[in-house]
Amino acid sequence: MAGETNVQSVRGMNDLLPGQIETWQRVEAAIREVSCRYGYREIRTPVVERTELFRRSIGEQTDIVEKEMYTFTDNNGDSLTLRPEATASCVRAGNEHGLLHNQTQRLWYVGPMFRHERPQKGRYRQFHQFGIEALGWAGSDIEAEIIAVGERLWSSLGITGLNLEINSLGSVSARANYRDALKAYLLDHVDALDADSQRRLERNPLRILDSKDSGTQEVLDGAPSLSDFLESAEREGFERLQQLLTAVNIRFSVNTRLVRGLDYYTGFVFEWTTDQLGAQSAICAGGRYDGLAEQLGGRAVPAAGFACGLERLIELVILQGEETPIQSPRVFVAALGEVAEVDAIRHAERLRGAGVDVQVNCGQGSLKKQLRRADNSSAEVAVIIDEEVAGTSAVKVKPLRGQGEQSTVPVNDLLASVQAITDSSN
Ligand code: HAM
Repeated sequence: MAGETNVQSVRGMNDLLPGQIETWQRVEAAIREVSCRYGYREIRTPVVERTELFRRSIGEQTDIVEKEMYTFTDNNGDSLTLRPEATASCVRAGNEHGLLHNQTQRLWYVGPMFRHERPQKGRYRQFHQFGIEALGWAGSDIEAEIIAVGERLWSSLGITGLNLEINSLGSVSARANYRDALKAYLLDHVDALDADSQRRLERNPLRILDSKDSGTQEVLDGAPSLSDFLESAEREGFERLQQLLTAVNIRFSVNTRLVRGLDYYTGFVFEWTTDQLGAQSAICAGGRYDGLAEQLGGRAVPAAGFACGLERLIELVILQGEETPIQSPRVFVAALGEVAEVDAIRHAERLRGAGVDVQVNCGQGSLKKQLRRADNSSAEVAVIIDEEVAGTSAVKVKPLRGQGEQSTVPVNDLLASVQAITDSSN
């Protein structure tokens, strides 16, 4: 109806248009190849899960669960949530299908996630993650492998300059002891903390380590360090991980203030950041989460993994990587009149059957207009069926990118002459 306003997309949720999608497809192809090279297998879980899954895994007192979830009640009265991440879903699926019973699993996934954050460049309400989850291994070797998967993906996409930071959060009990010590220290300095950190002090003091406020940072300089609270086996495991990373020339730095915004982590955590994308600098993050399978009702299963934000990764590919060619047909078929239209669809289908990408003009128009469309389509060859050749066993073939003259060829030679032109332009 005239005068109606245009329906718009939801704020923070983006369309991926032709012209952008080519880069996405290239990145997804690299993801598949790299995951496969390390023996990871794809898993696809639903976008909607029971709300309880995220409450019990990510944690009641995290930003995600407290204020960022898209939660609704369905017609049965069940509370459901659009997944804000997929680690919990992988573990749920593992428990549910017996994949973790006397077995190990190397899994990967790509898909949309949903968080009701304040949208800005690099931060969206629907965004995409590539993630891997290694379920069933306890050692530093799998941790190093997980990091190597990320490193290989960056290099396969031509990305350099990412900073890798690692830390060890220790066991639940080590962390609880540290939490108490940190809280006691910060309570003595509460007036010097920023408002956000003051608010976090009671419920989630570890997140204060993340604060970017300079006053808070100064207070933290004198705070007890998490590394002093690690048990000896944890400290040895963390050192072993560092040896393994060094053995394969992966550069990293230890940041004892690196904490994560999700509660399920135990042991090592890490984050890859860039200084090229402004405020949203985290490209990929993860760590160990040995308690999660049990927390969700299964047996205890050691586990570790990461997730990488595809919007951010693709920004970097566009900034640093080689350009992705736009998808376009190689052949454009122009047809004048009804008889020619029949020839056009027949020849086009034969070429497609031989593996050639073909776009037919469709919708008639003068030859001049059709050839202009052919030029704009970035095809390399035009097949022209005008009144002269329509209904005969010949067609006209015209190179569009400056290689050679137009010629009339027998239909049986069409494929060969199209190939000759496209080969000569590559
Ligand atoms: P996360 O740190 O919440 O971890 O997210 C991982 C990555 O997803 C971030 O580093 C960032 O690149 C991207 N990301 C997060 N939120 C947004 C957003 N609103 N817009 C754009 N990109 C975003 C997890 O999700 C864990 N499941 C990672 C993991 C897997 N740990 C173990 N296994």
